Amino acid sequence: MNKFKYKALLKTIAEQIDLPDNAVIADLGCKDAAFLLAFQEAFPGKIKSAVGVDITDKWFKDVKYKKPIELKVMNCSKKLEFDDNTFDFVFTKDMFECVPDKDFLVSEIHRILKPGGIVICVNCDWDSVIYNGENKELISKAIHAYAVTKQPWMEDLDSWIGRRMYVFFNKSKLFDSSVSVYNVVETEYIEGTFGYDLSMDIAWLHKENTGALSKEEYDVFIGNLQTAQESGQYIFSKPYYIYKGVKI
Ligand SMILES: C[S@@+](CC[C@H](N)C(=O)[O-])C[C@H]1O[C@@H](n2cnc3c(N)ncnc32)[C@H](O)[C@@H]1O
Repeated sequence: MNKFKYKALLKTIAEQIDLPDNAVIADLGCKDAAFLLAFQEAFPGKIKSAVGVDITDKWFKDVKYKKPIELKVMNCSKKLEFDDNTFDFVFTKDMFECVPDKDFLVSEIHRILKPGGIVICVNCDWDSVIYNGENKELISKAIHAYAVTKQPWMEDLDSWIGRRMYVFFNKSKLFDSSVSVYNVVETEYIEGTFGYDLSMDIAWLHKENTGALSKEEYDVFIGNLQTAQESGQYIFSKPYYIYKGVKI
């Protein structure tokens, strides 16, 4: 947990929710349950039950979790396997863009929330990520290619999901809606930072021969970031849109 790099984002989210005692919470697309564990720390003694679901259990085995956390395999593109009016709080981060029928997921989140329950849906707007560096065209190309190239595990992809998410929820008229942005800004290109880690993730575009970015282009992209770091010109920025809905 010491290395939880989303600490500041979590704080911003936690300030927006007021959990009741004995809260029942869910994380849809929970991966390694890092956020569920962090919510437990942020709201000590308040959570009676916390269920994390993901389409795959491949990350579950590495997680050290115990009651009240429970992890389940579930496909959030389908009817959620929860009863109506179950949760005080539903959280989902960087999963919404992968679900093809977003209107259906919005209605399902509404169904499983208790009246007055809260949903927080967090999504990076991938096409708004920026790095500074010399080769503007190539850096923009690398970011955009990563934003719009569907990875094998995704059923859908919307690189503008951050800016669009509010609309998906608000047009349903099922929630009192609001939206805010938490922006990551970094000035060091070093391992463990958001910018460094993303630049490593972008390598998949050439490793998997997607055609979206060649190995040569990727190497120049990384070289630009290293040079920017060495010359004190590195900057990285990434916006997380935080949608908050209260079930009407
Ligand atoms: C980018 S990761 C985000 C993980 C975690 N929410 C976080 O922010 O650290 C997306 C996660 O959503 C899961 N996912 C994708 N499509 C899904 C679906 N239809 N139902 C459930 N989980 C899904 C993936 O397996 C992956 O764990």
